[in-house]
Amino acid sequence: MALNMDAIGKMIGPISREYTWKDAALYALGVGAGFDELEYCYEKDLKVIPSFSIAAIFDFLSHIGVQSNVNLAGILHGEQELIFHNPIPPEGKLTTQGKIINYYDKGPGKGALVVGESETFHSNGKKLFTSRLTIFSRLDGGFGGENAPKKEIMFPNREPDFVVEGSPSKDQPLIYRLSGDVFPLHVDPEFAKMSGFQMPIMHGLCTHGYACRALIKSLIPGQPEKVRRFDCRFSKTLYPGKSIKTLIWKIEEGKALWKTVNAETGDTVIDFGVFEYGDVKEEKIMFDGRVAIITGAGGGLGRVYALDLAKRGAKIVVNDFGGTRDGSGQGASGPADKVVEEIKALGGSAIANYDNVATIEGGKNIVKSAIDAFGKVDILINNAGILRDKSFIKMEKENWDSVLNVHLNGAYYVTQPAFAVMKENGYGRIIMTTSAAGLFGNFGQTNYSAAKMGLLGLMNTLKIEGAKYNIKVNAIAPVAASRLTEDVFPPDLLPQVKPELVSPMVIYLCSEKCPVNGNIYNAGMGAFSRASVVTGPGTVIKKDSGYPTVEDIVSNIDRISSIKDAKEYWQLNDLVGDIVTVFSAPKTEAPKPKEQAKAEPTQKTGFDSVKSVFENMPKAFNADSAKGIDVVFQYVISGTSGGEWHCIVKEGTCTVKTGVHDKPTTILKIGDANFLDMMNGKTTPMQAYTSGKLKIEGDIMKSQLIQKIFKIN
Ligand code: NAI
Repeated sequence: MALNMDAIGKMIGPISREYTWKDAALYALGVGAGFDELEYCYEKDLKVIPSFSIAAIFDFLSHIGVQSNVNLAGILHGEQELIFHNPIPPEGKLTTQGKIINYYDKGPGKGALVVGESETFHSNGKKLFTSRLTIFSRLDGGFGGENAPKKEIMFPNREPDFVVEGSPSKDQPLIYRLSGDVFPLHVDPEFAKMSGFQMPIMHGLCTHGYACRALIKSLIPGQPEKVRRFDCRFSKTLYPGKSIKTLIWKIEEGKALWKTVNAETGDTVIDFGVFEYGDVKEEKIMFDGRVAIITGAGGGLGRVYALDLAKRGAKIVVNDFGGTRDGSGQGASGPADKVVEEIKALGGSAIANYDNVATIEGGKNIVKSAIDAFGKVDILINNAGILRDKSFIKMEKENWDSVLNVHLNGAYYVTQPAFAVMKENGYGRIIMTTSAAGLFGNFGQTNYSAAKMGLLGLMNTLKIEGAKYNIKVNAIAPVAASRLTEDVFPPDLLPQVKPELVSPMVIYLCSEKCPVNGNIYNAGMGAFSRASVVTGPGTVIKKDSGYPTVEDIVSNIDRISSIKDAKEYWQLNDLVGDIVTVFSAPKTEAPKPKEQAKAEPTQKTGFDSVKSVFENMPKAFNADSAKGIDVVFQYVISGTSGGEWHCIVKEGTCTVKTGVHDKPTTILKIGDANFLDMMNGKTTPMQAYTSGKLKIEGDIMKSQLIQKIFKIN
């Protein structure tokens, strides 16, 4: 089967993987770290070995294999280059996207190279590393392509500056594989023999991890965050239990060449290594060219946001009506003008606007003044606010209305015209200002609490409507000393409750880097945390006859009320989807929310039993693509709904029978659930195979025909 030329340049991913410190520590143990390098193994101040990166995105490698259509029977990881942009945090979510960038032809019988490139981002929004990997495919050469450019490294003609010994144990692959590469070649003695080895071999990437540790220890002890580039070629297999040596030549400040050899035989197992190291230049978050509107920016928190954004290059519309603390009075231009002067004195660019956010015209004018002065709106911080506190019984309609008008209606009046401009430009960052009074309640603030929670409802839906235009909407619940809170904080606490201690969070949410949408952050006194609306797992009271009774609720109230293992929902449909799942037959797929369904286009058939797959197999058979093919696939499906089936493909026909065939060409062994996942498009055969879930015996190469001759999903 030929390499898939169409796959070059096609985007693969995004593929995401969550990890915790335990994954990073398990990897460290897998590549030989221990008490000598406790910083890699102990959750207290844990540092992540940079080579963890490639183990953590192992799935991406399988995708390259599948997309390129390489012959599985003859593939090896050839070369691996990693370029680090930021240190790997001890936990979070990695999201990888990339593509096949080229195929090289070493000639008939000599093999081919598949080169893939990817970038991985952390859930904190930072780009962590770029990976360039080469798969060497022994059986795909001779397709008529160009040969790869020669890559050779001349090691200095002198003794290495450092020699670091490593002693992988006989059981090392058994630990290493738990980091994700569960290919049977590293664990299954029979599989290893079938592949021509005396016993299971070391993972090349495990030895790679030993080398990475050795280089850090020699050149930047205790500072893995300084690794910038780590490049090498895998040249020979190694059996577990064999000692290795990493030879290191420092050729200039910040750069070394290295190789890893088998200490017993002197054979080079990893060759042509390059290691670069040094400090990362911290990327400053800037807003050059961005236009920000901040309402109520004539004082308090809004003023600090305006100054901070202006210092980082944004052009600012300083809106402030200039009224009293309770919103009464005619307003004044002084507060907004003063902040504009401050910004200009710093060399920034700003204009003042004195409109009242609590009117529809006011909202339109604020946005218009941004367009007139700077041509667009990229950022909107809905910050203007007043207070009219009274206990609920005494809360007159006027006090109720005026607070809702400024906070909630004001956000609607300004956000709607701003959103229209942002949508047009395909970019926007909107901040709603909520409050702990709304999130949790505060005596005497029913009007204010209702308005502040209303803003979260507005955010929750706007985040969905804005997502496809790169408009992100988040909320801040600040705590700061200001005119609004002048009677709240005792004077000696004032230095600790400055608006400057809230602002960094808001500025981050306004930035291009902001990775989140629809989140609520508490910020004050330098403490930052996320608040969230969650739903507990609850319980289902199903009755064969009739409805649940009030007494059923009484006896289940603890389970219904529990938020242990609670879950966040992105949107209403996701919650409905979960409820529907509970009421559907156990094996029926819950309807997916639209966005998710789009992201998983392979989910088409939805087989609910192993048997139904085999019943449907003749219908999925494509006689045209089976011309000249003569094979028998034997399926051995383990598990309660498993069994044995075989499929005979001959002279353009397909026959499926239960039981064992006496001369199968290829035997496929897999568990029932994994088989259904594969047939329902949740995993590909390549992923199932490389992760060890699918075992293939007999003619492995023929198994690749399955995808060609059956259109199952
Ligand atoms: P602040 O009183 O210093 O600032 C609010 C600004 O909004 C004032 O300059 C005021 O003139 C302006 N404003 C009021 N009504 C307006 C209108 N209709 N149109 C245009 N501008 C108007 O108060 P602070 O503390 O800086 O409050 C900012 C935001 O943070 C408010 O939304 C407030 O509810 C919220 N917040 C503040 C907390 C704190 O601890 N300071 C706690 C929770 C929320």
